[in-house]
Amino acid sequence: MSVDMGVNLGGLAMKNPVTVASGTFAAGREYGDFVDVAALGAVTTKGVSLNGWEGNASPRIAETPSGMLNSIGLQNPGVGHLKECDLPWLADRGATVIVNVSGHSFDEYVQVIEALEGASVDAYEVNISCPNVDAGGMTIGCETASVEAVVSRCRKATQRPLVVKLTPNVTDITEIARAAEASGADALSLINTVLGMAIDARTRRPQLARVVGGLSGPAIKPIALRMVYETHRAVSIPLLGMGGISTGTDAIEFMLAGATAVAVGTANFMNPTATLDVLAGMEYYCEQQGVESITELIGALQC
Ligand SMILES: Cc1cc2nc3c(=O)[nH]c(=O)nc-3n(C[C@H](O)[C@H](O)[C@H](O)COP(=O)(O)O)c2cc1C
Repeated sequence: MSVDMGVNLGGLAMKNPVTVASGTFAAGREYGDFVDVAALGAVTTKGVSLNGWEGNASPRIAETPSGMLNSIGLQNPGVGHLKECDLPWLADRGATVIVNVSGHSFDEYVQVIEALEGASVDAYEVNISCPNVDAGGMTIGCETASVEAVVSRCRKATQRPLVVKLTPNVTDITEIARAAEASGADALSLINTVLGMAIDARTRRPQLARVVGGLSGPAIKPIALRMVYETHRAVSIPLLGMGGISTGTDAIEFMLAGATAVAVGTANFMNPTATLDVLAGMEYYCEQQGVESITELIGALQC
């Protein structure tokens, strides 16, 4: 039986629902020896800003039970490098591309999008949820007023599908989701990392130089599933679900909770072909369950 794996994420046609979580797959080239990037529903690039950012001081990675903490701080070489080196490589391979956009100010988000409008990009993912920067990032994504301000300005800057990435570090994610939808988002992605910290008892010091970082990996999957479920019931635009996905079954669970597409993140660090394994697992599930189109599963949770 052949399963129709195609989905539409707010105007972005994806040949299957699987993309990568920004920041865990670089710009795709780094995984080129392992993954045919054109086989994925989309490649989502690492967050890019107008000019390069150095990121935070080390140590900025710590391993935790069933997860990892990071405080990278959106290190990236800037939008010019992405345009000159990475986007042409992805275009040559026929990849569908989502560029993750970051900024220290509302203006910077718009400037990054404007810089990319002539480039081979299929959609933008606006990151208003990074916990590891002092200005921009999560500070914007926690208040409805700033969400409305940045999303409506990005909306005016492009006709391309606009995905807005939400933080789980809020009291009520559905309030933020509705604000993003009302301001012109075509889709929402969730969740970014969960605030956490790790301590080395022997040295009595925090394991991250920045003390607090973002938790990702299987440890956060139940939180992410709950938030996808709640958000699906609160908005009518499609969702890109992520948080601890490492198997096809994990991904199917996100679709049942209400995701239209899914992103594989931290799992890429342990298994560079995790994306392809997740995709194969999803297809196998559909064959076993007699699912003809993967879209049948979106929000099909029976409570
Ligand atoms: C090392 C690292 C870097 C990340 N960088 C970004 C980023 O640049 N932009 C962004 O929106 N999210 C970033 N994230 C968050 C992931 O895209 C994703 O939302 C989160 O890790 C949850 O998914 P996972 O548990 O499958 O990793 C990063 C995560 C990690 C672990």
